[in-house]
Amino acid sequence: MFRNGSRRDHDTGPAPEALRLVKVSKSYGIADSAVTALDGVTLGLARGTFTAVMGPSGSGKSTLLQCAAGLDRPDSGIVRVDGTELTGGSEAELTKFRRGRIGFVFQQYNLLETLTVAQNTVLPLKLAGKRVDRRRAREILTAVGLGDRLRHRPDQLSGGQRQRVAIARALVTEPRVIFADEPTGALDTRSAREVLTLLQQSVRVHGRTVVMVTHDPVAASYADSVLFLADGRLAGRMDAPTADAVAERLAHLGDDMTAGV
Ligand SMILES: Nc1ncnc2c1ncn2[C@@H]1O[C@H](COP(=O)(O)OP(=O)(O)O)[C@@H](O)[C@H]1O
Ligand SMILES: [Mg+2]
Repeated sequence: MFRNGSRRDHDTGPAPEALRLVKVSKSYGIADSAVTALDGVTLGLARGTFTAVMGPSGSGKSTLLQCAAGLDRPDSGIVRVDGTELTGGSEAELTKFRRGRIGFVFQQYNLLETLTVAQNTVLPLKLAGKRVDRRRAREILTAVGLGDRLRHRPDQLSGGQRQRVAIARALVTEPRVIFADEPTGALDTRSAREVLTLLQQSVRVHGRTVVMVTHDPVAASYADSVLFLADGRLAGRMDAPTADAVAERLAHLGDDMTAGV
């Protein structure tokens, strides 16, 4: 069943968390060749926070994001976004919820090359069957600094500009939670800074919740806190991260798997 827990949460006090994972596990493959990507991850993120997820390659960061965003299903455990349980619902319910409430930004932008910047931006509204407001596209693209590129095609843009279109697309439905998987991984330093500032603003100004996978300590320092993953498990947390402190912790990740949890 697809349960909306917000009413119950209202009765008991505070607004629901933006994200709650309870003992989420996910393996790929079968029998001898099975790989445990997530191994019983439990975490909660408050609304209006910016969290970075870090850890070695293969530690389960992307799997965590995909499961949390409802793009993939865990083998076991519970995922709740903004008070609504994603796990257990039908595919159609999940898709509807995801389109309305969740934004996703990928490393490789995932723009449709045949559509204009404006068309790419409003695509989630079209898919959700909502009215497509041209003014809204212009407004949101202006906010990401691309108000003069509405009719351009993605191949006429730089990497940084493409990623800003992807962010506009993620924001257009006014989602509660935005998941970003290495959004600055393919960008130069300056474009990365612009993208990170946009994500930060969506939290600070608009009260959204952002969860961002990154391998870059400087990118992580834009977040309010960092969660460290190792071998599919939470291996620590750091609040008010600085790039130096994050780099230092990453270097010692695995020395003590429970440090700082
Ligand atoms: N579609 C898949 N099929 C098989 N194995 C996968 C798949 N996706 C991820 N994995 C494996 O799961 C583990 C975690 O992967 P991933 O979540 O992509 O880690 P990260 O993003 O931290 O690099 C790795 O061992 C990876 O090889
Ligand atoms: Mg990954």
